Amino acid sequence: MSPFSPARPDVVDFLLTRRSHPSTTLSDPGPDEATLHRILTAAARVPDHGKLAPWRFVVYRGAARERIGQRLLEIAEAREGPLDEMRRTQELTRFTRAPVVVGVLSRAAAHPKIPVWEQELSAGAACMTLLTAASASGFGAQWLSEWCCFDETASAFLGRRDGERFAGFIHIGTPTQAPFERSRPDLDSVASVWEEG
Ligand SMILES: Cc1cc2nc3c(=O)[nH]c(=O)nc-3n(C[C@H](O)[C@H](O)[C@H](O)COP(=O)(O)O)c2cc1C
Repeated sequence: MSPFSPARPDVVDFLLTRRSHPSTTLSDPGPDEATLHRILTAAARVPDHGKLAPWRFVVYRGAARERIGQRLLEIAEAREGPLDEMRRTQELTRFTRAPVVVGVLSRAAAHPKIPVWEQELSAGAACMTLLTAASASGFGAQWLSEWCCFDETASAFLGRRDGERFAGFIHIGTPTQAPFERSRPDLDSVASVWEEG
């Protein structure tokens, strides 16, 4: 065993059992300022070819989340016409299900050496690390995209700048219930040893 990479079976055990928590089951409290800073610092420590930081984070917390809900409802109604009560509530509460939501923006751009694909993968890694760090900090979290991720007007309102794309929103809070187990792919169907074909 090399001292330069000590075994962390506790981390592997955590990875083998972790689960996302549906955002509707996340309640107060969310991570405080210092804990969120630590979670985001972990998320910013992902493999990133060329050290481009081809992603950034936007935090939504407090009353701002209600304002976002009102605006999402306006945008949705402008597109679809008046919404029924259920859809209205869905839009109004989209950012208030969990106490803290972090938007992860990919800002991948053409580069002479680093393919855009690699930069986008790094944004995915940032999302997953954020999710993992939030869970390992004792919170429940869920990575959601939903329509506001892709809608030009909504995503601009949420902080997207020209040339950027949301990789998703990580909803973080205190779980009110245990998540159900979810089936996983049979490893043999997704992993194989290469053999020359
Ligand atoms: C990029 C991305 C976007 C997702 N968007 C949604 C979504 O909009 N709505 C949803 O119900 N689940 C969405 N999911 C799935 C949830 O994150 C779901 O909780 C997750 O697949 C369960 O994974 P886990 O328990 O293994 O962490 C998304 C997953 C990814 C990777």
